[in-house]
Amino acid sequence: MLRALDLLLLPLLLNTLSASAASWNFVQNGTSGILALEAIIVSPTLAVFFDRASNDPLMINNNPAWGALWNLETNTASPLLVISDTFCASGGFLSNGTMVSVGGHIPAITAAVDGRMAIRIFEPCADPAGLNCTLFEDPETLHMEETRWYPSSLRIFDGSLMIVGGIHERTPFYNTDPVNNFEFFPPKDGGVPRPSEFLARSLPANLFPRVFGLPDGKVLMIASNQTIIYDIEKNTETILPDVPNGVRVTNPFDGSATLLPLSPPLYTPEVLVCGGTTTSPLIQPTNLSSQDPASDQCSRLTITPEGIKKGWQVEKMLEARIMPELLLLPDGQVLIVNGAQTGYAAFDTVPDPIGFQSNADHPAFTPSLYNPTVPLGQRISNKIMPTTDIPRLYHSVASLTPQGNILIAGSNPNGEVVNGTGEFHTEFRVEYLNPPFMSQQRPVLSNVPSKIAFNTRFTIGVDIPKGLPATSIKVALMDLGFSSHAFHSSSRLVFMDATLSFDRKTLSITSPPNNRVYPPGPAYIFVTIDDVTSAGAHVLMGTGAPPPVADQGIHLPSLF
Ligand SMILES: *[C@@H]1O[C@H](CO)[C@@H](O)[C@H](O)[C@H]1NC(C)=O
Ligand SMILES: *[C@@H]1O[C@H](CO)[C@@H](O)[C@H](O)[C@H]1NC(C)=O
Ligand SMILES: *[C@@H]1O[C@H](CO)[C@@H](O)[C@H](O)[C@H]1NC(C)=O
Ligand SMILES: *[C@@H]1O[C@H](CO)[C@@H](O)[C@H](O)[C@H]1NC(C)=O
Ligand SMILES: *[C@@H]1O[C@H](CO)[C@@H](O)[C@H](O)[C@H]1NC(C)=O
Ligand SMILES: *[C@@H]1O[C@H](CO)[C@@H](O)[C@H](O)[C@H]1NC(C)=O
Repeated sequence: MLRALDLLLLPLLLNTLSASAASWNFVQNGTSGILALEAIIVSPTLAVFFDRASNDPLMINNNPAWGALWNLETNTASPLLVISDTFCASGGFLSNGTMVSVGGHIPAITAAVDGRMAIRIFEPCADPAGLNCTLFEDPETLHMEETRWYPSSLRIFDGSLMIVGGIHERTPFYNTDPVNNFEFFPPKDGGVPRPSEFLARSLPANLFPRVFGLPDGKVLMIASNQTIIYDIEKNTETILPDVPNGVRVTNPFDGSATLLPLSPPLYTPEVLVCGGTTTSPLIQPTNLSSQDPASDQCSRLTITPEGIKKGWQVEKMLEARIMPELLLLPDGQVLIVNGAQTGYAAFDTVPDPIGFQSNADHPAFTPSLYNPTVPLGQRISNKIMPTTDIPRLYHSVASLTPQGNILIAGSNPNGEVVNGTGEFHTEFRVEYLNPPFMSQQRPVLSNVPSKIAFNTRFTIGVDIPKGLPATSIKVALMDLGFSSHAFHSSSRLVFMDATLSFDRKTLSITSPPNNRVYPPGPAYIFVTIDDVTSAGAHVLMGTGAPPPVADQGIHLPSLF
């Protein structure tokens, strides 16, 4: 006979049993139609993929397409009409929910126009299948001030996009024709770009700078092995310690970096930088090899006066990785996935390429989890992670989806689409990496407001599976980022304080204190109960007004 205590524990036990049956897994489903060289989730059911204007199989208007809408429900791609060449561009959302794609290249095919100054507008898309959702371009009247290939971008505290660096046009490997400045969309300073000493100093392996909005509105920037804080309002830079041990982390030496989750009440920022290479950018590409080992270093810095004084904390990944992806997960862990164990980013430069033109070799097939909250030395593990057999090298993408699993696509370390079965051919297969909770009963959110002001309390409904004791509740507000070149521009996780009602049916949540902690614009709210995460609810943080928007909410004590 079961005693009362056993009856109380039974649901807990059952849930533990089902949890141990569920595990992380890779599932391949569908093909991307175009090479997924860039990816951004644009609605709860859709991602946009961009490639270069090239020879992709998906057609539009009797030409190969280089933009596509990926339907997360049906796992199918449909072509998206793009005017200019999106090759190696960036992008992100504005405060009014509009997605902007920026930069690109001179096209190899006549169907496209020069995309180097491009501003492409994708208005919020309400139809679940993307019907009538289009990309707007008017190259004559709507463009950047500079030609930019390989820029990165960041949504800042006033909801505008800051566009950082890049190269004017193609050079063999390094950034030898640099755009050493920043500009904004919508424009600031009468459209005049702001020169950057940092970008000049970090040449020539500084493409796709890793940039982050700090909770006080300043911008943390990492390029090559150098790190600064840039103050947008004062136009000043503060030099921070270099990434240690000669490791460099920007293209063509791509490591990756992410801001770790920001938590109330202090929102102390910490940055994590993993992979890359210790190769010197003084070495010419003819002297580099696809077999040169990548770096296995992860370095972490707390962006406060004390943290900077303490310096970078260093630990090792389980393998070396060039071009890793670092993805924030709703429970606060960081997924390390994709990339190669040797060689470099870019293609067709080393004297010993693999397959057709790959500068990299030895794909990293097993992801790892990085747990930021445990002691140094115990943070990285792949014990519960599955292994894939699809290489994800140069020109691949990864993104957390609104469903809570990870979309992985692309890989083409070649100039154009290379068909067939040869090593490191163009990869069209789309894969999902599913956390264990994808096959469990999950919390379901309801009555989530579509627009949320800063520094306010709001309530949502939550249906918690019976077996979950709800001893831990984490509510994450996330920007899923724009995936391009082993970096996720604007990706962010801010935890929100939350209280569960006595009947376990509603959560009372406090939004971030202001628009600097979470830049105004789109977000997803994920609730993780114990270790089971809900699907994300799409919300708009702030008023939804177009940028630039004024400061909102309450001031926090400044970091410096
Ligand atoms: C590659 O294969 C696809 C699908 O079979 C085909 O549509 C496309 O034309 C091929 N591309 C090239 C460059 O051969
Ligand atoms: C692939 O996705 C489709 C559409 O969502 C689904 O019906 C099908 O079961 C999936 N296949 C696998 C192997 O997961
Ligand atoms: C799409 O546009 C067409 C033509 O303007 C219109 O008739 C149709 O209702 C629209 N559909 C949706 C889902 O917006
Ligand atoms: C960073 O790179 C610069 C220039 O290549 C070099 O002088 C410096 O020593 C490097 N820093 C570290 C910590 O390795
Ligand atoms: C390549 O390396 C060799 C031997 O170290 C050196 O003599 C040569 O100058 C290097 N060439 C380039 C292009 O870096
Ligand atoms: C958002 O703002 C941008 C920049 O001003 C503008 O181009 C776009 O049309 C706006 N979208 C909406 C939905 O208001």
